[in-house]
Amino acid sequence: MKKVGIIGVGEYLPQKILTNADLEKMVDTSDEWITTRTGIKQRRIAAKGEAVSDLAVKSAKAALEDAGIAAHDIDLIIVATITPDMQFPSVACLVQDALSAGNAVCFDISAACAGFVYAIDVASQFIARGASKNALVIGAEILSSVTDWQDRSTCVLFGDGAGAAVLSEVKSGGILATYLGSDGSMADLLKVPAGGSRMPATDKTVQSRMHYIKMRGNELFKKAVNAMAKAAQAVVNKAGLKCQDIDLVIPHQANVRIISAVAKKLGLDENKIYLNIEKYGNMSSASTATALCEAVKEGRIKKGDVVLLDAFGAGLVWGACVIKW
Ligand code: ACO
Repeated sequence: MKKVGIIGVGEYLPQKILTNADLEKMVDTSDEWITTRTGIKQRRIAAKGEAVSDLAVKSAKAALEDAGIAAHDIDLIIVATITPDMQFPSVACLVQDALSAGNAVCFDISAACAGFVYAIDVASQFIARGASKNALVIGAEILSSVTDWQDRSTCVLFGDGAGAAVLSEVKSGGILATYLGSDGSMADLLKVPAGGSRMPATDKTVQSRMHYIKMRGNELFKKAVNAMAKAAQAVVNKAGLKCQDIDLVIPHQANVRIISAVAKKLGLDENKIYLNIEKYGNMSSASTATALCEAVKEGRIKKGDVVLLDAFGAGLVWGACVIKW
């Protein structure tokens, strides 16, 4: 099996910033509640008419440039998203067209906040067994399109953005181990009920706000802590390492209290944890993708560092990945 690594990263965040102060004018909430309960200060919101593929393409172009790879050399595009432009075709096909990446096989992955980690795992297996040479993996979301702006328990949490990575064969280091898990018995804890085949769109589904995120946040909190801690420990063991060997952890950015609880469970130094939740909120699959990109650009990840990606989301799904840079 070939060794596979990340050879370029990129991101795109929409320009519009929605602060906690802005939300105070929209629903019964406060900057104090949002900051202390979640760690979020502001989030980005896509412009009217901007779709997930638009964000994805911009992050992809940045990643291709960073990797020094031309679009026609990409033979696999995987987009992790739960907010595609439309039910079909896939966002990956729309990205392929916009990039003129005609040689790529394209599909989307629906694994919510763990989507970017799932996509890295899938792409790395394509490359490891020789089915692909250069893969473009993107986590892109416009969660503002499924956010109920009248529901204070969810609307303060989410944001829009995209992050991308180019994966290729590497001589040394690269992806040391991956670990994925799922539990469909708890699908009800976090979902958008309408708009699919179970509950197609009708006047009634729109009026009853069924096209928006419904979340039982309190119940999810504990599940998130346990699943992320379990996934991190499992993948570190699989890589033949100890948690203390990790130089930087890139966790899913749903809630800073979840991240702190995971760090405590694993005995991880909080200085080794990368956070961008304050600026962007929870961007589902785009959270780990943009955090990885920013950690690289800010010099928080250097050659030889061991990086842990750790994510959890609707499904329920979770996934972790250890990469030697
Ligand atoms: N402003 C002010 N008060 C609020 C707000 C708000 N925005 N939202 C809720 N409250 C109130 C509630 O009404 C409640 O009031 P009450 O005690 O009078 O009933 C009180 O605050 C506490 O509410 P909880 O829901 O218990 O608050 P909690 O501390 O659990 O925080 C949160 C809520 C932030 C959602 C947290 O539970 C969480 O982060 N859950 C996990 C989310 C997650 O991991 N999701 C999975 C990934 S996301 C994905 O896959 C797309």
